[in-house]
Formats: sequence, C-alpha cells, structure tokens
Amino acid sequence: MSKSKAQHKIRLGLLGSGTVGEAVQQFIFEDLKRKMRRDFKLEIVKIYTRDPAEKKWFSTHPTLFTTKPEEVIDHPEVDIVVEALGSQQEKQLAVFRDYIIRAFEKGKAVVTSDKAVLAKFGKEIWAAARRCGQELRFEACVGGGVPIIRSLTESFAVEEPEAIYGIVNGTCNYVLSEMKKGGKSYEGALREAQDRGYAETNPKSDTSGEDAEAKLILLAAVTFGLHVKPGVIWRKGIEEIHAIDFLYADRKGSHTIKHLAVARKDGGSVEAFVSPVLVPHDHFLSAVDGPTNAIFFKGKRSGENHREGQGSQGWSYVFAGPGAGGRPTAVAILGDVCELARGRPGRLAGPPSLVAPGTFSVQSEDQICACFYVRFVVKDQAGIVGDIGQTFGEAGINISEIWQLSHSRDELQVLGQSYRLAEKPRELLPFVITLERAPIGQLKKALEIIGQKDYILVDPVWFPIWRD
Ligand SMILES: NC(=O)c1ccc[n+]([C@@H]2O[C@H](COP(=O)([O-])OP(=O)(O)OC[C@H]3O[C@@H](n4cnc5c(N)ncnc54)[C@H](OP(=O)(O)O)[C@@H]3O)[C@@H](O)[C@H]2O)c1
Repeated sequence: MSKSKAQHKIRLGLLGSGTVGEAVQQFIFEDLKRKMRRDFKLEIVKIYTRDPAEKKWFSTHPTLFTTKPEEVIDHPEVDIVVEALGSQQEKQLAVFRDYIIRAFEKGKAVVTSDKAVLAKFGKEIWAAARRCGQELRFEACVGGGVPIIRSLTESFAVEEPEAIYGIVNGTCNYVLSEMKKGGKSYEGALREAQDRGYAETNPKSDTSGEDAEAKLILLAAVTFGLHVKPGVIWRKGIEEIHAIDFLYADRKGSHTIKHLAVARKDGGSVEAFVSPVLVPHDHFLSAVDGPTNAIFFKGKRSGENHREGQGSQGWSYVFAGPGAGGRPTAVAILGDVCELARGRPGRLAGPPSLVAPGTFSVQSEDQICACFYVRFVVKDQAGIVGDIGQTFGEAGINISEIWQLSHSRDELQVLGQSYRLAEKPRELLPFVITLERAPIGQLKKALEIIGQKDYILVDPVWFPIWRD
C-alpha cells in the first residue's frame, strides 16, 4: 500500500457477496458515506460473485460486479483483498486458499472472515504472506464482532497465557439455550434457530462442532503458538444432547450445558477440545444465552501472583458480543482494513502469538483428563448400577455421584419415543453417573464394555464437567 493512497483512498477488492460481503458493501456504499472519515476513505473497486444480478447492490453499482475472481485479485487499483467466501464443500477451500495466495503475489494485503480456509491452510497462507511481504488479518474469523484476536495479540502481549475458552458458535449456544429454557427437543430448538436465521439450512458444520474447531485452531495458534490441522483436536458436537440432560444438569447438579471450545495449558502441553460441557450455574458462561459468543482469556502475570495472594489462579478476562451476523462481522473486517490503512506494524513472521510457536504440543484425545457426566438410558432391572460401577472400577475410574430423578410416565414416554425405543415407558430407566477425573482414553474403553451390555438401550451420552 503506497503512503499517498493510505492517506486518501483505500481501495478494496471484495471476494464474496453473501451475508458478510453484502454487509461490507452496506457500510461502504451507505453507512460510511454518512459518517465521513478524515484520515482516509474506503472504496470498493471490484466485487466477485457467481451471480451478480441476484445481489442487493447490483442495480446501483453494476460495473463493480464480476464473475471472475482474478478481476478482483489482479486489479491494479486494489490495495486490500477482502475474502468473505464460504462453502460447505471441502474441496472449495483449496480454491479460496489459492485466491488469497494469489492476492499476496499480486502485492495486496488480505483481510478474511473465512476461518475454515485459515484453519485448514493457515501454514501455507502465512508462508505466502511472508514470502510476498504482505499482511493478513483475520479478526472476523473468531467471535464475529467480538474483538478477540487483536485483544490477544496486542492488549495481552505481555501476559503469560493459561487458557482460552468459551462459547464460539452462536447456533449451538442458541439451540442449547432454548433446550434449557423451554425444555425443547434438540430438533425443535434447531428448527427454531433456522427459522430465526441463526442456523444455516445445512447446520452440520455448526452442530458437529466443526465451525467451533476451526475457531479454536485460530485461538490456539494466537494464544499458544500451536499449529494444528482440522481433525486433530478432540471434538464433540451437540447432536447427542437431549432435553433430559438439562433436567439432570439443573435439578441434580446445579449446572447447565454449554458447547465450549477450550485450550488450556497443562504442564508442557495444551489440552484442546470442542465439546458440550457441564457448566455450574454460578459461572459467567452459564448465563450467556442465545446466539451470543463469550470468550475467556486466562493469563498469569508472572512475578505478581504470590505477592497478591493469587496463587496460581491468574487473571480472567471475558469478551462477549454478537458472534455472528453480517453487520458485526463486517465491523470486524473493516476494523482490520482500517488497521492496515493506518499502516500498523506488520506481522510478517506468521500468525501473531503470545508464545513462540513450538513451545507447546497439543494433547491427544486419549490424554485429556476431566471429570465426566455420563447419562444412561437402560432397561430397568436389578443390579445395573453395580455392574456399571464395577466396569468403571476395573478401568481405574472412580464414580463421584449417581443422579436419579423420578420421572413421570409422560416424560418416559417422550424419552422412549425420541429414541424410537420399543420398550414401554415403565421399562425405561434414565440416570446419570458423574466420574472423578480420568483420561478420555480410559473412559472410552470402559464405555465400550458397558455399551455391549444387554441392558443398554441408548449409547451413553458423556462430556466433561467444567473445572476452572
Ligand atoms: N455470516 C456470519 O455471521 C459469519 C461470521 C463470521 C465469519 N463468517 C465467515 O465469512 C464467510 C462468508 O460467510 P457468509 O455468511 O457471507 O456466507 P454466505 O452468505 O453463504 O456467502 C458465501 C459467499 O461465498 C461464495 N461461494 C460459496 N460457494 C462458492 C463456490 N463454490 N465458488 C465461489 N464462491 C462461492 C458465495 O458466492 P455467490 O455470491 O456466488 O453465492 C457467497 O458470495 C464464511 O467463510 C463464513 O464462515 C460468517
């Protein structure tokens, strides 16, 4: 970006004209006209979409639209390429990666909201940025409008990270909140999320935890210098969660269930996972409902803790706000654009991180240790709890508590129908066992044995219990 351009016009090439791309256009064509900036002016030079005629701003700006991505990327006047593409097709990500790399090669900086492409091809993309001496910004990839990436890399530059965790997928949080509040079924809550525009027609990447995993990969890179590919981090979605789990969590455990992305230092490694988690009612995250995102950063101020009686607790900071939606995401994108326009110092060495890359390794799924919630639905007969307890004992896992509610016939009927069970309501016995801290590997082995017992009617539903 030349100095004279930075002082006057910053010209953008936009790849994508979906929800996010159109919100960026809304800002530049309308909102920013009213709110005049003195330091520089933002302009869109070209917009790539496959279907210009269908787009909101086509009638007023027809010459800006193109169906050829190279007309955006190679455009001599474009200073910054904004990549706001997204596809459910895995193979398409490589195409989007190539657009970003080509933009660097053409001398452009890139701002992206595309967490999937960065999570999968981050290493190549950063290497290309370095090779070409170009800048990459990705605030919009995590937390939508919540400014977490810049806060981590700049405001917390001197903090020693202990953990980064929180609610990073608004769809999952909306569905779980509705199941908690209204006792809705998973299917009913998801349908409502779709009706309200919080979930895609194909919500699989949200409900399976894939979207949260991509965001956690970026958060873990920035916080702990980890370079992890999708598929490595232990991941569980929300599809198995049943309304009955909220009854047990609430009435027996004074907890609720939240879908969390977690990366936490554990000695020389980092335990990182995406999963539903049993969260106590008195934790801030338990009250974060609907499509909101909330991310905690826990740091340790070296040298101060003992003097201030903090022990090893460290300090926690929380960032909350709209985790998705065109406008908040466009705010994050254009915030990155403005940062580049003001000529902030470059980050050419790779993704900015609080810890040197290579300092930590990521724990394997089997190594991750936690206390667990395990919910069973069994054929009601004598000796089952004893049998399950014995299997856990043989696997070296201690039972903490057994939770059993008395269920009405109607509740059991709904439970049986939801799992399409042939048994009569009075033959069903749901209950929960909470387990003391154990590695996932050991838990899975025990559950494999228990899962083969003839009294098991439904695969046990299990996930970690929160610990600070
Ligand atoms: N929506 C949010 O709240 C939000 C928040 C944070 C980050 N993001 C990320 O921002 C990106 C855009 O999200 P969005 O909500 O705007 O998605 P969207 O409404 O589905 O728009 C997707 C864009 O990608 C283009 N696209 C899809 N498949 C393509 C293909 N095969 N070839 C070329 N172009 C293709 C679409 O092209 P056409 O214009 O031709 O249809 C459209 O412009 C995604 O990576 C998403 O994960 C979204």
